[in-house]
Amino acid sequence: MENRPEIVPIGELPPVGVVPKKMYAQVIRAERFGDPIKAFQIEEIPVPEPGPREVLVAVMAAGVNYNNVWAALGYPVNVIAARQKKGEKEDFHIGGSDASGIVYKVGSEVKNVKVGDHVVIHCGQWDHDDPWVKAGKDPMLAPSQRIWGYETNWGSFAQFTLVQDHQCLPKPKHLTWEQAAAYMLVGATAYRMLHHWEPNTVKEDDVVLVWGGAGGLGSMAIQIAKAAGATVVAVVSDDSKIEWCKKLGADGVINRKKFNHWGALTSDINKPEVFAEWVKKAREFGKAIWEFTNKRNPTIVFEHPGESTIPTSIFVCETGGMVVICAGTTGYNATVDLRYLWMRQKRLQGSHFANDEDCKNFNDLVIQKKVDPCLTKVFKFEETGLCHQIMKENKHPPGNMAILVGAPKEGLGIEE
Ligand SMILES: NC(=O)c1ccc[n+]([C@@H]2O[C@H](COP(=O)([O-])OP(=O)(O)OC[C@H]3O[C@@H](n4cnc5c(N)ncnc54)[C@H](OP(=O)(O)O)[C@@H]3O)[C@@H](O)[C@H]2O)c1
Repeated sequence: MENRPEIVPIGELPPVGVVPKKMYAQVIRAERFGDPIKAFQIEEIPVPEPGPREVLVAVMAAGVNYNNVWAALGYPVNVIAARQKKGEKEDFHIGGSDASGIVYKVGSEVKNVKVGDHVVIHCGQWDHDDPWVKAGKDPMLAPSQRIWGYETNWGSFAQFTLVQDHQCLPKPKHLTWEQAAAYMLVGATAYRMLHHWEPNTVKEDDVVLVWGGAGGLGSMAIQIAKAAGATVVAVVSDDSKIEWCKKLGADGVINRKKFNHWGALTSDINKPEVFAEWVKKAREFGKAIWEFTNKRNPTIVFEHPGESTIPTSIFVCETGGMVVICAGTTGYNATVDLRYLWMRQKRLQGSHFANDEDCKNFNDLVIQKKVDPCLTKVFKFEETGLCHQIMKENKHPPGNMAILVGAPKEGLGIEE
């Protein structure tokens, strides 16, 4: 009864609502685990069927994040084996945790979107019948919480993606498909870090220190903090990134290469002479912040490098302030001089992605043009492995990257 095409070429779409039987997908398999350039391969895969609260979205563009570098490597987690252990039958991984696209099919109980809607997708998933979620508590703390397109299959590196209804948010009309695909994962993560953890939320005239100010997370954090009226000091490793941070609104930018006290503390910090030497250097970094803040310390330190920077983050944070962290890119061995933590009553807060409310609030900032997606590089679908390889080798440009999937070329999708 249905006239479904077998498959359509990349960059083309059947009429809205007509779902092909198969789709092209960039697939990772266990036997190919390793460098992303080889791990991702294009395969034809049957298009999945949405369940009652699920939505099938035709992907116009997909955003690129570090998590699918890890998926390609099969390290530190073999995401395919982890899902099979829980009973899933698929022996492959279709990654991709950011997307813009068009709704092509909805499950029987979906109410918030309809076929034809233009959407962006956030990557937070959880079971609707999880008792924690049903009780109305923060789903990001639920046992069933997982990241779509990393911990789940059917991510955005394919012509169609399968998502839960609440993951869909309106696409900002002023953005192209590739811009709209680039911001949600890093932006909503940064939004929760800065706005969720009461009472340490960003307020007018607060000082916020942003590590990696030219990176994906950092570019979003600078703009979100500025939108709240804060004074922002960003940190970079190269003077060439200073202008980028300033354009996004940073009031000051520090080149971390001018300091050399980085890395984990050891028990030697208990020796007065070692402590005196370390604290002298950490104070110099603090003074570099003061240059831009009228001698005020950061009330929020936006952390993700982890091991290398966390002793300094705790040290420079204002009394009663918060160091909020969502990653340990330089290592997981976080060390702090406890004297500063307890005497000055500082908070070290972990934060992971975002709930529906955080995502909606952040998307509204983008719709209001208060946050730019900072898209700096666009790849073809065939280059999915290449762009993850570039990210693995830390050769990617400032800001965010996206991949064209259904969109035939750059610059399409603007509706106003
Ligand atoms: N938990 C979550 O929900 C979540 C969400 C998004 C991302 N993440 C994680 O957060 C991390 C950053 O993501 P991203 O997208 O912002 O990556 P990115 O675009 O690569 O930016 C990371 C930044 O970190 C800085 N950096 C690197 N080494 C550093 C060091 N030794 N000391 C200080 N800064 C250093 C770099 O800036 P400079 O070299 O210029 O200083 C770089 O721009 C990744 O590990 C990612 O997986 C977690």
